[in-house]
Amino acid sequence: MNWEEWAEKLFCLIPSFRLRPSLEKLRGVKVGEGTRISQFAMIIGSKKLTIGKNCFIGKFVVIDALKEPITIEDNVKIAGHSAILSHETAYTRELGKRAGPIIIKKNAYISQGTIVLSNVTIGEGAIVGAGSVIIEDVPPYTLVVGVPAKPIKKVKKNVTHHTIP
Ligand SMILES: CC(C)(COP(=O)(O)OP(=O)(O)OC[C@H]1O[C@@H](n2cnc3c(N)ncnc32)[C@H](O)[C@@H]1OP(=O)(O)O)[C@@H](O)C(=O)NCCC(=O)NCCS
Repeated sequence: MNWEEWAEKLFCLIPSFRLRPSLEKLRGVKVGEGTRISQFAMIIGSKKLTIGKNCFIGKFVVIDALKEPITIEDNVKIAGHSAILSHETAYTRELGKRAGPIIIKKNAYISQGTIVLSNVTIGEGAIVGAGSVIIEDVPPYTLVVGVPAKPIKKVKKNVTHHTIP
């Protein structure tokens, strides 16, 4: 294993969600001020990942930006056990489908156990219901739920998701 692979495995064991972003920066992840990355959150493909300011990444989240870039804008919250996967399988790459960047726009909220597949944009202030699978763009200020996720209602623009201490 090279240094990058060791770092990927070791850093996710760090119990302090405040210290973790500083460590991730050492291996090339761009992380904004005030962002918290929880213990056991796994970050794969650090060079193509950008996380904005005041974001929260929950426990056991997997972010795989090994192949295509992932951009998480300011104030995005990603609850535990979610997976953000821009890394496609050989099968889908051969078909020329799906592979592409993921953008999660500012103030979006990704609930527990969501899976976000490649080549999608989740709009500003959108909320994704627990256990959803995102395979297409989510419009701004919209609540989507289900597998695959579909819009069910609009969300108020001034909703503030919980602040991390
Ligand atoms: C989406 C959520 C926010 C509920 O929003 P809501 O506006 O109160 O929605 P409602 O409960 O009125 O449900 C509206 C419809 O969506 C469905 N629905 C709600 N959440 C759903 C989900 N996660 N998956 C699938 N369907 C869902 C409901 O069954 C209902 O369907 P119906 O109209 O056919 O009866 C909530 O279900 C959720 O997922 N919370 C996230 C919890 C979480 O991850 N917490 C992490 C804390 S760190």
